Amino acid sequence: MGHAVSVPDDTRRALLRELLGDTGRLVVVSNRGPITFDRADAGDGRLTAARGSGGLVTALAELGRHAPLTWVAASLTEGDRAAARVLNDGRSGPGDARVRELLEETLPGQDLRLVYVSLSDEVYDRHYRSFSNPFLWFVQHEMYANAYAPMIDDTLIDAWRKGYRPANVQLADAAVDAAADTTNPVFLLQDYHLYLAAARIRERLPDATILHFNHIPWPSESQWRLIPQSLRRPICEGLLACDIVGLQTDRYASHFLDTVASFVRDARVDRDGRNVAWRGRRIRVRAYPISVDPDGLLRFAASNAVEQRLERLSDRLDRAGRPRLIVRADRIEPSKNALRGFLALETLLDRRPELRHQVRFLAVQAPTRTEIAEYAEYGSAVREVVARINGMAEPDEQPIWIYDGSDYAMAIAALRLAEVVLVNPLVDGMNLVAKEAILVGERDPVLVLSETAGAAEQLAADALSIAAADVVGTATAMERGLAMPAEERRARLRRLRALVRQQDLDWWLTRQLRDVAAVRRGLVPPSRRLRDTVRGVESEAV
Ligand code: G6P
Repeated sequence: MGHAVSVPDDTRRALLRELLGDTGRLVVVSNRGPITFDRADAGDGRLTAARGSGGLVTALAELGRHAPLTWVAASLTEGDRAAARVLNDGRSGPGDARVRELLEETLPGQDLRLVYVSLSDEVYDRHYRSFSNPFLWFVQHEMYANAYAPMIDDTLIDAWRKGYRPANVQLADAAVDAAADTTNPVFLLQDYHLYLAAARIRERLPDATILHFNHIPWPSESQWRLIPQSLRRPICEGLLACDIVGLQTDRYASHFLDTVASFVRDARVDRDGRNVAWRGRRIRVRAYPISVDPDGLLRFAASNAVEQRLERLSDRLDRAGRPRLIVRADRIEPSKNALRGFLALETLLDRRPELRHQVRFLAVQAPTRTEIAEYAEYGSAVREVVARINGMAEPDEQPIWIYDGSDYAMAIAALRLAEVVLVNPLVDGMNLVAKEAILVGERDPVLVLSETAGAAEQLAADALSIAAADVVGTATAMERGLAMPAEERRARLRRLRALVRQQDLDWWLTRQLRDVAAVRRGLVPPSRRLRDTVRGVESEAV
């Protein structure tokens, strides 16, 4: 692949020094913060704390070890609100020591100031449960069956006016206030919950340096055309208040530029130069594919927690006569496309009945957002298909083994044992399972990857590529993966591993900081376009 150069630690340190000087700070703003505080169920109601979940928090949780960091987020729990009172006004009170102790325990060794913003229930529900999820999430993952949804009705407009907009203003105001004593703050805004925050920050701090990174897909402008100009234009203009808009892939960056060209009246879009001129400013649009921290992941993969799960799986494999494993690990979320994955297995077993004894499909599946009807319905549809395929067989003889994947250690244990890993989302911002599988797999796993995962831009060349809707093709790819000669598996994996090691989480962050530093100096951000490996994918004639 290789035109990108690996980025040593020193580069990042030097960039941070240049950007922040002695007293500057990075200011991250996101909906979910790095820690969730809770009141202990039993006993004295003391606060407890755990690291927040999800891709965003995992990516940014260690940032405070590398740079002075202020992190502004919404309070999600009663515990967060209690902690916020201590954290935000720095008062000394009875709970003070406890909150600081929890902070140090959960994210040790960080220069981290945490600011939790307590939005009212009325605002937060509309912001998070109506507008961001499911509306924006579904539009951007193209998950609506357009004949029925989305419905831009009074409830949705109300969620925008009385939820999304005020939540963005309040979080942006908190970020500006938190940066009041900071020279040179660099604002790093995260994800689809905050499309309007940059505009508010710019209004109050015209010279601020702002980068918004979006973790989820940016669909083509024809998706956005379904929703009214009164929503899509402020979303685009909100983002144009940044200096840099970062997307996961070059394809999403192109979509963003097209969307701005279509819907923002006075913007001039330079597609080749990847920038937009708007109201006297120039906004750069770049791709920063997110990744994992390889060493941290490998340490976790060798931990006791994972070893225990591995033993459980090994016992079961022994009982089943040591079958080979196809593995998937994801949330039960319609965009992940588990349904077609299981149907593809059924197709494969019909085609090659002897594989019934030689192979199992191990699926680590985490329930998520179960209160949203579409998720519950999808979960039922998946369970029905799995029940049909498994039929009346004894548990160990069943073709599909399901594990509750809220257990991350189980997901990693399964990926260690995989010979084929199926990652077939209908659309996905990036998909980190594909990258994790490459790093932790011990049986030279073959990656079967749909072209609509953001990760395909980097990985398709050495994965077996499939179109997400193609059940027949997915069955064939799994069959090919199982039959692939050892030498080819190893060669593909070696190249994939080298790529993921080089384009790791550090690389993701350093490219953003380098671009921000360039913008500060009035230069063009140097991040180049990445080669889209999907273009080279061959397919068999049908
Ligand atoms: C996933 C996505 C992130 C998103 C997060 C929200 O992890 O990859 O882009 O921010 O979900 O999850 P939450 O649980 O906070 O709704």
